Amino acid sequence: MTPLLELRNVSKRFGGLTAVDAVSFSIEAGELVGLIGPNGAGKTTLFNIIAGVYRPSQGQLLHRGDAISMLDPARIAKRGIARTFQNIRLFQSLTVLEHLLVAQTCRGLGLLAELNPLVSGAERTRRKAAMELLELVGLENRHDEIAIHLPYGAQRRLEIARALATSPELLLLDEPAAGLNDTETVGLREMLDALRAQHYTILLVEHDMKLVMRVCSRILVLEFGKLIASGAPAEIQVNPEVINAYLGAEA
Ligand SMILES: Nc1ncnc2c1ncn2[C@@H]1O[C@H](COP(=O)(O)OP(=O)(O)O)[C@@H](O)[C@H]1O
Ligand SMILES: [Mg+2]
Repeated sequence: MTPLLELRNVSKRFGGLTAVDAVSFSIEAGELVGLIGPNGAGKTTLFNIIAGVYRPSQGQLLHRGDAISMLDPARIAKRGIARTFQNIRLFQSLTVLEHLLVAQTCRGLGLLAELNPLVSGAERTRRKAAMELLELVGLENRHDEIAIHLPYGAQRRLEIARALATSPELLLLDEPAAGLNDTETVGLREMLDALRAQHYTILLVEHDMKLVMRVCSRILVLEFGKLIASGAPAEIQVNPEVINAYLGAEA
């Protein structure tokens, strides 16, 4: 079977620095894969390579078997690879629900229905889909509120719902737990559990080790740009190289 995403020997050099060093892995549809590693390990660079922000200096990226290394971010997004950012980026005056309605049209998926006056149910269908997503992230009761008035944790979940509203095949989440308090982290964990149950395909960069170990089916570990381990959370937790590189340093 062709993987959803495959990296073959991908490297990224910035001048003399090799930020990502000959990394190979693949992600199958329906997996929730964690990407961890110490600061400076190359996680964000790898994210940016997948999202088309950086071209790899070497190696190949394949989406459903098609080479995508040369595509720009807009084309990557059109192919269904969506991402969230570490800082929150919401519209000033839109409600929670409106954020999702705007996002739904981003890949042009709703456009035909939009232009066709005969498709009278299109608007209702879109609202229904958006409300289902809000339910998934626990925001259904706040759909009419102005998004930027939500508490921080809820804003983060809205950003994820907005990315999901584009109907992505692969979602890249960049440190979604950053800045969350304990209660908000529990809310995020429950949301990630729900997304996993619905078989969304997700690559999660996250520093909260408890969260990563709990929600991911598989974990990739980067150190100095190199992939030093890949496996189930239980394997990663006892891998001596990983403990040495990362977990040990945290304790
Ligand atoms: N645009 C850039 N130009 C030069 N060096 C960079 C750039 N982006 C990242 N780096 C370097 O690449 C390495 C990996 O960074 P990064 O991918 O941000 O790591 P992580 O996200 O794992 O903390 C670091 O040494 C960082 O300083
Ligand atoms: Mg980073």
